[in-house]
Amino acid sequence: MNHLFIATLVGTLLVMIGLEPTSGDNDPDRNKRVFIEQLIGQMTLEEKAGQLTQLGMQLTATGPMIDTKGLRLPDVADVGSVLGVYGAENTRKVQQQAVQGSRLHIPLLFSFDVIHGFRTVFPVPLAEASAWDPDLSRRTARAAAVEATAAGVHWTYAPMVDITRDPRWGRVVEGAGEDPFLASALAASRVRGFRGEDAPNTEKMLSTAKHFVGYGAAEGGRDYNTSDISERTLEEVYLTPFRAAVQAGVDAIMPGFNEVNGTPMHASQRLLKDKLRKEWGFQGLVVGDFAGIHELIQHGVASTSQAAALRAFNATVDVDMVGVDYVSQLPALIRSGQVPEERLNDAVRRVLLAKQRLGLFEDPYRYSDPARERALLLTSHTRALAREAAQKSIVLLKNDRALLPLSKNLRKLVVVGPLANDAQSTLGPWYGDGHAEDSITVLEGIKRAVSPATEINYLPMGSPENSDIPVMKEIEQVTSDADVIVAVLGETGDMSGEARSRTSLGLPGTQNALLGELTNTGKPVVVILMNGRPLTLPAVDEQAPAILETWFLGSETGHAVADVLFGDINPSGKLPITFPRSVGQIPIYHAHKNTGRPPSITNPYASGYLDEQWTPLYPFGHGLSYTTFTYETPILSKQRLAFNETLNVQVNVRNSGQRGGDETVQLYLRQNVASVTRPVRTLRGFSKAPGETKTVGFTLDQDDFASLDTDYLPVVESGTFTVYVGGSSATDNQASFEVTSGTHLNEQRSAIPRWLRETSLR
Ligand code: BGC
Repeated sequence: MNHLFIATLVGTLLVMIGLEPTSGDNDPDRNKRVFIEQLIGQMTLEEKAGQLTQLGMQLTATGPMIDTKGLRLPDVADVGSVLGVYGAENTRKVQQQAVQGSRLHIPLLFSFDVIHGFRTVFPVPLAEASAWDPDLSRRTARAAAVEATAAGVHWTYAPMVDITRDPRWGRVVEGAGEDPFLASALAASRVRGFRGEDAPNTEKMLSTAKHFVGYGAAEGGRDYNTSDISERTLEEVYLTPFRAAVQAGVDAIMPGFNEVNGTPMHASQRLLKDKLRKEWGFQGLVVGDFAGIHELIQHGVASTSQAAALRAFNATVDVDMVGVDYVSQLPALIRSGQVPEERLNDAVRRVLLAKQRLGLFEDPYRYSDPARERALLLTSHTRALAREAAQKSIVLLKNDRALLPLSKNLRKLVVVGPLANDAQSTLGPWYGDGHAEDSITVLEGIKRAVSPATEINYLPMGSPENSDIPVMKEIEQVTSDADVIVAVLGETGDMSGEARSRTSLGLPGTQNALLGELTNTGKPVVVILMNGRPLTLPAVDEQAPAILETWFLGSETGHAVADVLFGDINPSGKLPITFPRSVGQIPIYHAHKNTGRPPSITNPYASGYLDEQWTPLYPFGHGLSYTTFTYETPILSKQRLAFNETLNVQVNVRNSGQRGGDETVQLYLRQNVASVTRPVRTLRGFSKAPGETKTVGFTLDQDDFASLDTDYLPVVESGTFTVYVGGSSATDNQASFEVTSGTHLNEQRSAIPRWLRETSLR
């Protein structure tokens, strides 16, 4: 059956049962509303509960399937959405089962985790955050949406906007790092990208900001663990990127598996109902995480499936992902009067409206077109974008005596380490429909880049967890006539992501010893890191003269690494998260408080450690270039200003080296004295400085000067501020100004940076 026929059939059926809008009424929005209300009016309680249920049809589950204890598992024709089915043909088939097999022929929503690309795999989100480039993140999200929607996917569970300051937590790879300002800019951009303002309707994908909230604050960095977060930190840090996503129009919010201060997020009326919906005015869907409603029983806040359903529903969770609690309990909860039917209708309405926004009532199969799928997946355009994104995500951590870039005309180059030839690992975790065989490995990229006369030897050396350390003699033999050794070290692609917490963050297995053997040869060693989290790298930093952090860069890994290694591209990435020296320093982050006893070399009774420095190995914002940038002192438009005035900050940045290059100029602010303690610096701006000499300008206003007072109300307090502008959070390039009057701010502050708000939404 072709889809036009089916659409007509569905339309006819809707007319027959009296649900089609009356012709002659020319307010399309009214017609749409009437259509939804009439549909709700026709539904039984069971059909309504079904719309709020999501069936898991994926092959690999991300959690244990719940013990249903005799509860009937729903059929695809009984539910509102499905997780894990993709492909134009597959989605068409399953959609047919739902539309034709159900009484009211309501189409399904197909959801999938499109996290950093669908078929074309872009850098993992933590890597892409290193580009500090919101427009790039918007473009990769858009490209992912074009591919995924062509494969029948309507709804992604991205962007993941969890802040984390603990790299033991494996899911650090899915987010934008430690800073709420950077994360908010990227969250808003990704939401816009998935939606695609000007995109044809069939290329629009619903987005989900997750995991609301504080999931990244898991104690001990152990996934799914308890979060205990102060009111202030919750507001200033963890909630901020969610607020940005909501302000950018995100379609859905997913609560986390975690509890916050004693309440599991799937039952949190305070944070979901009162904060998200009432205070922020969020009108979209709240979709529970994988069996997260049922897990309220394990959390110990509900003793039965019915009690779990009631708690989650009262917290305004709309959709039960791969659970049976809603479908089996909600009708009884309505009949017994414990839940008013109007509340059920509210949740059902939100699901139906999402389907209507995508045009699924007009044509349930509009996203399932095999010809479009064939044309739009893994194109030269998406590959070029993946290469650009990968180039911009690479961070040059160290480059002693300008060892990099390497010449393409070396006589002999030895590449070492299993990751160099591991195509699967280039994709990282959550790689959508990415195929390893479509990915360029580092080894392949290097081979393609060098001149034909260059000899390349490859020493794989076991697996990263257990690299063989060949006898020194063997290494000496292979490297004796080499110009340089390139060691590709780090984690495999599946060592970060969900349920991938680690207690030690050094190079896994025997890789440090391997590196020792390599440096013992006396040959220059370049380390290329592949990893999904900050690692503790003092030993690497000590031994290797040059280190490139490449994270997991996706389909174009090898090309992008070679572009940077051989200098076709000058690296410009900056760390979106602090690299500790040792696990014992965690949590360590740039926006820390000063304390009453700030770290000091001379005072032994100051905040610090007996056995380790207190500073990070590589600070937030750090990233070198093959050229150098010289900063002049910031020039301020005023020394004194009232709370409602704006301040312009200008700084001249000069490329003082031999090559062209892009610098990410970062602006941090410190309020020197306030009624509550303030971080030693908070990021409040960043901008690219390409080319030779550039004057970079920033505008600061009351949103930037504001803090939360002792009652957590936004306030600008008079007093002095220091503004720092430089190439990392460790910069000392500063100027001071005074805000001469204060005020409480009535309007909700925007979490989206001002310049991003003002740029086109496309
Ligand atoms: C993860 C979510 C994901 C969901 C669906 C869960 O285990 O926590 O981030 O969206 O699975 O795959």
